[in-house]
Amino acid sequence: MTAKVASVGMYVPQRRMSNNELTELVDTSDKWIYSHTGIRNRHIADDSEATSDLAYHASVQALERASLEPDQIDLVLLATSTPDYPGLPSTASIVQDRIGAKKAGAMDIVAACTGFVYGLETARAFVTSGAARTVLVIGAEVYSGILNWKDRNTCVLFGDGAGAVIVKRSDEEAGQSEMLDSFLRSRGSGARTLLRPSGGSRTPVVPGETEIETTKLYMDGRRVYMFAVGAMTDVLDYLLERNNLTIDQIDHVVPHQANIRIIEAACKRGGFPLEKFFTNLEEYANTSAASIPIALNEMVETDRLKRGDMVITVGFGAGLTYGGNLIRW
Ligand code: ACO
Repeated sequence: MTAKVASVGMYVPQRRMSNNELTELVDTSDKWIYSHTGIRNRHIADDSEATSDLAYHASVQALERASLEPDQIDLVLLATSTPDYPGLPSTASIVQDRIGAKKAGAMDIVAACTGFVYGLETARAFVTSGAARTVLVIGAEVYSGILNWKDRNTCVLFGDGAGAVIVKRSDEEAGQSEMLDSFLRSRGSGARTLLRPSGGSRTPVVPGETEIETTKLYMDGRRVYMFAVGAMTDVLDYLLERNNLTIDQIDHVVPHQANIRIIEAACKRGGFPLEKFFTNLEEYANTSAASIPIALNEMVETDRLKRGDMVITVGFGAGLTYGGNLIRW
């Protein structure tokens, strides 16, 4: 039994925030942000929009494009580190109800920016084992809600958005669309390089004592940068070697959209051609678990990604986690 990606959808909030707008909040400039990251804009949810709202719109589009009814979904997997509510209920359950997937299980996947890569592999495992026939995999984030808008080291880097795919049992012959392989890793020794220090069971919020900034995202940017470059080359080397492929046989690499300099450095270190790497972070910034499905959606909509193309996704993020998926689209 094989699994394939049947369709993809995306949604970003209407509000578009430029680098210049950020100069009103922190001591920064369009020049610094663009030259250090490749980012020019990001989309920001309004006060009425939570992660499940973004996820809902992306999911409806993916369902329509796969010509599926909601009750044909067996499982909803939602990768996020910005759930509607902390810990419970899962945001996946909220989306499952709203789309009307009455016969589906639902759970969140927490692997930060690698969450969608983990979600795709989980879906593949369910489908190829026979445990599910059709799985909705979503990456959705509202990072604007967990950013410290006074911290220029982090607030310029992120945006909000959602992407979704339908993974289903492939009825096609071998050689057609198929999710071929994945690589998932965690390096938990780096857990404290990217985290929200307060608000969990380790350091609960104490009224009158906890500083609100400590409930927001903290990042050691330099360490994450070093980790990310190595993680990207490790993922690509591993997936290519294990599948007896060379980079020439890959049509597209779809990296997590964190920073153009990370992508360029990984290409240089690994000897990979930059033109195979899709980027759209200039428009959306880092949307964490949503960045890879948003990229896939844009590639399909612009005819850049076609059936039969060989694709490798590469994710890295808090955990520290990293991984990738090899897909014949
Ligand atoms: N505007 C202006 N100056 C800034 C800004 C800003 N927004 N941010 C930092 N600076 C300053 C710093 O204060 C520092 O000044 P100093 O030398 O006087 O101390 C200077 O710029 C250089 O800072 P560096 O940290 O050395 O800048 P660097 O070139 O490393 O770029 C960056 C910083 C973009 C954060 C980079 O380290 C990076 O991309 N790291 C990885 C981040 C990432 O990918 N995070 C997401 C991971 S995915 C997830 O799971 C969420």
